[in-house]
Amino acid sequence: MKISTTYMGIKLASPLVVGASPLGDDTERARELVDAGAAAVVMHSLFQEQLDADQFSSLYLREMYADNQGQQLGFMDPSALTTSPEEYLARIQRIKRAVGVPVIGSLNGSRPGGWIRYAEHIEQAGADALELNLYAFPSDPTVSAMDVERQMLDIIRMVTESVRIPVAVKLSPFLSSLPHFAAAAQNAGAAGLVLFNRFYDPAGDGAAHASKTSEPHGENPHLQLRLYWLAVLAMHLKTSLAISGGVNSGEDMFKAVKAGAHVCQVVSAMMYRGPGAAREMLADFRNRMEEHRCDSIEDLRSRSRFEQMPDPEACERIRYMHALQRPTL
Ligand SMILES: Cc1cc2nc3c(=O)[nH]c(=O)nc-3n(C[C@H](O)[C@H](O)[C@H](O)COP(=O)(O)O)c2cc1C
Repeated sequence: MKISTTYMGIKLASPLVVGASPLGDDTERARELVDAGAAAVVMHSLFQEQLDADQFSSLYLREMYADNQGQQLGFMDPSALTTSPEEYLARIQRIKRAVGVPVIGSLNGSRPGGWIRYAEHIEQAGADALELNLYAFPSDPTVSAMDVERQMLDIIRMVTESVRIPVAVKLSPFLSSLPHFAAAAQNAGAAGLVLFNRFYDPAGDGAAHASKTSEPHGENPHLQLRLYWLAVLAMHLKTSLAISGGVNSGEDMFKAVKAGAHVCQVVSAMMYRGPGAAREMLADFRNRMEEHRCDSIEDLRSRSRFEQMPDPEACERIRYMHALQRPTL
């Protein structure tokens, strides 16, 4: 049985990947996670606000913070965010030397601008691939969904045309027709899609999120949402698919790959439970592969229940209806 996988054309020893976070900043920590079985590392993001030539956004945030508004709203002091771009690029080189597995840089922005040229710098620094995070929270009622999507596709096109390394796009689930946008992102040059961004409550309990135990009713809502969309996108698209969010155990990995993921990006579990989490997850994942007589990741991916469904949309409505009509505890 083999658990090697291919993500955006890059061969990886297993589907377990360290997701974008400070875990990739710390050379020692990243190496421990790789020794425990992680097959690639995604760096934390370089943010548009750090890079934009006009610096407007940073100044705005700085002012908000200076007069206490930002603190009251729970914003992080922007000066704490500013790993300089030079330091970021140097870090890519350091991590790459230290871990000996593919390293994926991350750019995070929502409006076209000068920051996009950092894709080239990240490539030149030696990153094997780039993750483009388009995190945005549109709040202007005069801007249509089509305008928002057009802008995101423009950014994807600009980035993918500026580099030779493969580019994955980290998406938000809040799109009216996710499969349509995902196909357009693929046509715009995305070699991979990462499902999904998570939205953070600064007061939230990350440790609870990383827990191995199931939530009430045995559901993990972050995982469930992603499994559904993985299964839908895997039916229609050729791009690589990554899950990010809610993968805390080997069982979660098994479900994600079965739904269509080529890789599982994990942050919270590794952050709160350390390299032991990676070892446990991989051991459990292998056991489940054996139990189900799966020879390879492709074999498991081909077992998605959605492949056999004529109308996943109708099935999802029935599943939803059953869930709501289940007797309560
Ligand atoms: C402390 C922390 C920092 C993060 N930084 C980034 C980042 O810089 N860029 C990014 O795209 N995602 C970032 N994320 C989001 C993660 O990559 C991931 O999408 C999210 O944590 C969900 O996965 P999980 O359930 O395994 O934690 C961060 C998450 C955490 C907890």
